[in-house]
Amino acid sequence: MLELQDVCFTIKKDGAETNLVDHVSIKVPKGHFMAIVGPSGCGKTTLLKTIAGLNPESKGALFWESRNLSEEGDFSPSEMGYVPQFSIAYDPLTVDESVEAATRLRVKYKDTAELDHRIDRVLEETGLGPISDRVVKVLSGGQKRRLGLAMELVSDPKILLCDEVTSGLDPRSEREIVRLLHDLSRKDGRIVLSVTHSLAHLELYDSILVLHEGRVAFHGPPERLTHYFSVKDTEEVYPRLASQASERWQASWQKHSASYYGMLEKNRARHIANGELHLKPNPAAAPTLDANDLEKNPAAGHADMETRLPGFFSQFATLLSRRWRIFFRDRGQVFLQLAILICFPVLVTLFSDKASGNIRRYSDVRQNDVFAEIQEQQSVRSDQAKVGSAISGIIMFQVVLLALMGSNNSAREIAAERPIYEKEKFGGLRPMAYLSSKIAFLSCLVIAQSLWMAFFVNFFGPFRGDFIQHSIFLILVNASMTSICLAISALMRTAEQASLLSIYLVGFQLPLSGAVLALPEHIEAFTRPFVSAYWAWSGSVEALQSQVHGAVQSVIDTSLSNQNACYFTLGIHILVALGMAWIGARRPQWE
Ligand SMILES: Nc1ncnc2c1ncn2[C@@H]1O[C@H](COP(=O)(O)OP(=O)(O)OP(=O)(O)O)[C@@H](O)[C@H]1O
Ligand SMILES: [Mg+2]
Repeated sequence: MLELQDVCFTIKKDGAETNLVDHVSIKVPKGHFMAIVGPSGCGKTTLLKTIAGLNPESKGALFWESRNLSEEGDFSPSEMGYVPQFSIAYDPLTVDESVEAATRLRVKYKDTAELDHRIDRVLEETGLGPISDRVVKVLSGGQKRRLGLAMELVSDPKILLCDEVTSGLDPRSEREIVRLLHDLSRKDGRIVLSVTHSLAHLELYDSILVLHEGRVAFHGPPERLTHYFSVKDTEEVYPRLASQASERWQASWQKHSASYYGMLEKNRARHIANGELHLKPNPAAAPTLDANDLEKNPAAGHADMETRLPGFFSQFATLLSRRWRIFFRDRGQVFLQLAILICFPVLVTLFSDKASGNIRRYSDVRQNDVFAEIQEQQSVRSDQAKVGSAISGIIMFQVVLLALMGSNNSAREIAAERPIYEKEKFGGLRPMAYLSSKIAFLSCLVIAQSLWMAFFVNFFGPFRGDFIQHSIFLILVNASMTSICLAISALMRTAEQASLLSIYLVGFQLPLSGAVLALPEHIEAFTRPFVSAYWAWSGSVEALQSQVHGAVQSVIDTSLSNQNACYFTLGIHILVALGMAWIGARRPQWE
């Protein structure tokens, strides 16, 4: 039984407190299929989110199987399924792969036979079996809704909350989905609550909850709806609602609620007697705690959640393999990555001609005339300036291109899939497993891009210094930019915001580094610690052979930093960025 006692959800609007959910009291027994209807903006989604625990109630209490959810913690992820209105699957994956990943992330299983059995059962239940190898991208609206349901059913939830899963569908598909939800509520004593603005197919529900401005105007059997509102047709209910204030509807409902609950009880007894309603749990489902256990130990609900959830490594491996699969399915993405990987180093080598020029030394033999000596000095200095600025420029170019690759790697990584991630986190995905899978995936890109850049450029115009140290700095600058943009991606609301900010960040690396344009010293001292490109450039310059280093030094002063400072600063950049990404990934960010 789910019971709401005087539940309110309050927000502050223009300084005043407003109840979006206003003193809602309802009882929903096991195996019940309830519609939540009402005009747009009346608080249906808000009420559903309050039940799900996404909106903490400001007043009142929620009870679930004699457990006080307000005091003893919300539903565990395996107890509840929440199907939001937006699509929660990745376009490039197939139906089967989507359901498999959902199962692997949410349910602990003994062996692959059990996993397959669970997936097949859910596909069959939702009628997706025949199209299991179709990719999500080509599914119809109705099929996508079924998939959304399937991905929730993998954990055998005892309560299923659906938000507008029929909106935008043609009448036939709408009926099929309502019928499917009805059937899902007939098994295992599962409660199904479905928010809808449609007043069609109401006869399939056990009860209808009519909301008006956050208040209950009616909760009773569908066949009594028109009678209660004194209208001929259900379509007239909404206009009728608008005819009087919601407080009056609420007051009048409170007078009549007992008799309508009596009718619901009778209907239910009839359904059980007819054998239409099966309240026994599904033996195929993973074992869960029964009410007796919970009475003895209310905290057991959460312990149960921990034991039923797959471990960190299992979730990590599922996410990582899914990430690679999505990467390789997206031809455009693979092509872009390859193009960048190949073209950027080629671009650098176009400039390597001058950098490989000779730097003449001063001759040991003194010139016999002063004029010749001055001429020699001038020519050596001009060599140094030419080669020095070419080498410094090439290193800076490499570093900036790798910073650009870094931002391209991760700017959209989390922000673009945020709704899916929030949904999975709500279903029990550990933020640490998620972030670790991102780090593992991105590390492969970073290492491939940086090493290829180092080798390729070295092959055409050898790096005149310690190649290994230079390569490490290239990896570090790419890793630093990738981590910073990952943090931006985790903290921003949309992928567009995250991309824009990341691009600006790379664009400002070059001017703010002070390596190309001279900044006023007091500004430079402030900006430099934050500019990853500067530290990778400076560290690489320090790794040059002494003669070449001297040539660079003759054009630009690099004496301020030593290599350890460069390693240290880039390391700090990466750690701080990953810390910020962790904060962003943990923070709930529902739409
Ligand atoms: N976190 C929030 N802060 C401020 N206002 C909110 C918040 N959440 C919802 N609202 C407002 O509360 C009202 C109810 O929103 P809700 O999304 O629950 O409506 P709904 O009944 O689901 O509507 P629809 O049928 O259009 O989906 C709306 O006016 C909405 O703008
Ligand atoms: Mg809504």
